[in-house]
Amino acid sequence: MDERMERRNFLGLAAVGVSGLVLRSDAAPTPRSHDADDAESLHSLLSGDDLKPTVSRELGPFYRSGAPYRAKLTPPFEPGTILVVTGRIWSFTTKKPIAGASLDLWQVDNQTKDYSNGNGDFKNRARLLTDETGGYEFETVHPVPYSPGPNFWRSPHIHFIATAAGHRRLVSELFFKGDEKQDIDSLFHPSLAMSVEKRKLNGQAYEHVVFDIVLEGSAR
Ligand SMILES: [Fe+2]
Repeated sequence: MDERMERRNFLGLAAVGVSGLVLRSDAAPTPRSHDADDAESLHSLLSGDDLKPTVSRELGPFYRSGAPYRAKLTPPFEPGTILVVTGRIWSFTTKKPIAGASLDLWQVDNQTKDYSNGNGDFKNRARLLTDETGGYEFETVHPVPYSPGPNFWRSPHIHFIATAAGHRRLVSELFFKGDEKQDIDSLFHPSLAMSVEKRKLNGQAYEHVVFDIVLEGSAR
């Protein structure tokens, strides 16, 4: 059995011609890593009572569609301070977290201070889906400031598009409290700047940020 077949069997999948894959009839659901009833103890700083729709920002010229689904934006050993972002995507309409919402993320390369071209090179770009509690988590490195033109500075930020069925698509950016250049960044918004908690694990320092996103319902 070749490696691909072994992997297919491991996943409980069987091939159907060349057109696609179907789940084997005896395949079992993947066990959950945590209990959905435990939603309040995970990730989030918000509760349903204090939701405000997340402020939008411009899309900008560097978005590229089709980023891979993964929970780590950067390649292994990317220079910079490791940053873990956790949070939930919420519905302003129902005041509840949204399972299966999509988050599309992109940020600058810390070495070139530029965006990857997104044409086969999706460095520092990723998509992910929220879990059954509306929660998400990804790892990256803390983005650096960059200057897109003369007398124009962008403070560190991560661009994102959040989408969910029945809700308005949100284009915005995540910023970090206390970063440089925010006072001269015309696209900065204080409500999008989150506190950075410094943590240590296995002798290594990293940062943790909680960021909840609230989507408005789509117009009927
Ligand atoms: Fe940007």
